[in-house]
Amino acid sequence: MQKKRPVNIGLLGIGTIGSGVAKNLIAKSKTLARQAGSPLALKIVAEKDVSKHGMPGLGKSLFTDDYREVVYNSDVDIVIELIGGEYPAVNYIKEALTNGKHVVTANKEVMAKHGTELLSIAQEHHAGLRFEASVGGGIPLIAPFQRDLVANDIQAIYAILNGTTNYILTRMSHDNLDFNVALKQAQKLGYAEANPANDIGGLDAAYKLAILTSLGFDMDVNFKEVFYEGISRLEPRDFRYASEFGYAIKLLAVAKRSGNLVEARVHPVLIPAESLLAKVDGVYNAIYVTGDLVGNVLFYGQGAGPAATSSAVIADIINIAQNINTRRDNAPRFIPEKTSGIKPMADIQTRYYFRMDILDQVGVLAQISAAMGNQAISISSVIQKESDPSHKTAEIVIMTHPAQGSAVQKAIKVINKLAVVKRISNFIRVEAI
Ligand code: HSE
Repeated sequence: MQKKRPVNIGLLGIGTIGSGVAKNLIAKSKTLARQAGSPLALKIVAEKDVSKHGMPGLGKSLFTDDYREVVYNSDVDIVIELIGGEYPAVNYIKEALTNGKHVVTANKEVMAKHGTELLSIAQEHHAGLRFEASVGGGIPLIAPFQRDLVANDIQAIYAILNGTTNYILTRMSHDNLDFNVALKQAQKLGYAEANPANDIGGLDAAYKLAILTSLGFDMDVNFKEVFYEGISRLEPRDFRYASEFGYAIKLLAVAKRSGNLVEARVHPVLIPAESLLAKVDGVYNAIYVTGDLVGNVLFYGQGAGPAATSSAVIADIINIAQNINTRRDNAPRFIPEKTSGIKPMADIQTRYYFRMDILDQVGVLAQISAAMGNQAISISSVIQKESDPSHKTAEIVIMTHPAQGSAVQKAIKVINKLAVVKRISNFIRVEAI
């Protein structure tokens, strides 16, 4: 049989993930060639930072600082975009697809904001567009949603999609660390993004949730409608109190069907301490999916890091190469449609945990419960925690029954104005899972 020609790869961006991908393409070339049906040749790397040009097994002559030498290179079959960020990455991907190149990307921001448009461009140009590494690093998620779970109506996705925040929350919970101390440790260990604001503010997880929601619910998600809130308001005492009620606190990405709409939101939540997601500690990610046929499925693993992310990027490259070698169309089959909308947060019902500093005197609880009752918020339990006799104050924790988001916001406004309430220190949603 005639030997197949190599499938040629051009890489855009050789930072941490790019170096990991390049290293493994070289180190595993024999195994990968067998899987792909022909050798995979890393032909050219575009990297603006020339100090990164050259690495073992990849001489400086293969590097350029001009992306066009990759995207418009007639020898290149697959463009790997590992630059990150929205611009210019999205434009490079569009140009590559329009030029008939297959594209593999790890770019969550681009796929969350422009995924549907890019998939349509890919389809139109019979080009592949794969993005397994954009969510959950090395955890297989995109392919299962696109293939193995398609017979299901997905009912819910509950996911820990950000390793940095899960690490921070684990340290706050297990070691009683303050948020800032735990964040510094996460940065020292190299878990946080260059700009940790995206991790701790929930944006990183929101990008990933938008991608999963789009696949799981087969819908064109408008990223602007995905609610996200970060973890910086949490204090070690919230974890202690939650634990007394039988809960753990996690930054959860939640997508679930709700009538004709879909909820898509990222925020801290109290979840039952015995639930599987409550046991996911440290930098790990986990994605818990419920489908009408399959029931519950749990995906768990490393959501970041060059080795785990390379596993997903290289799998995408091999899938495209296999199709090239067997002359199958790489074009995406499913383009999400505007089948459903995202439910506004004001309309979403969950239980709530409140922590408040109050004056330790007669009638205070009655005023708080009246403010809640007026908004049809029913209290399920109240515990008085620490009191400070010298200031005549006490800290109380209130758990509510399910309450409407808009009602809770109104009650908070009223409670904040009560003279007997010094402050609402925190309020956190509760999910039964
Ligand atoms: N910074 C992300 C995290 C990894 O902490 O999970 C890349 O998406």
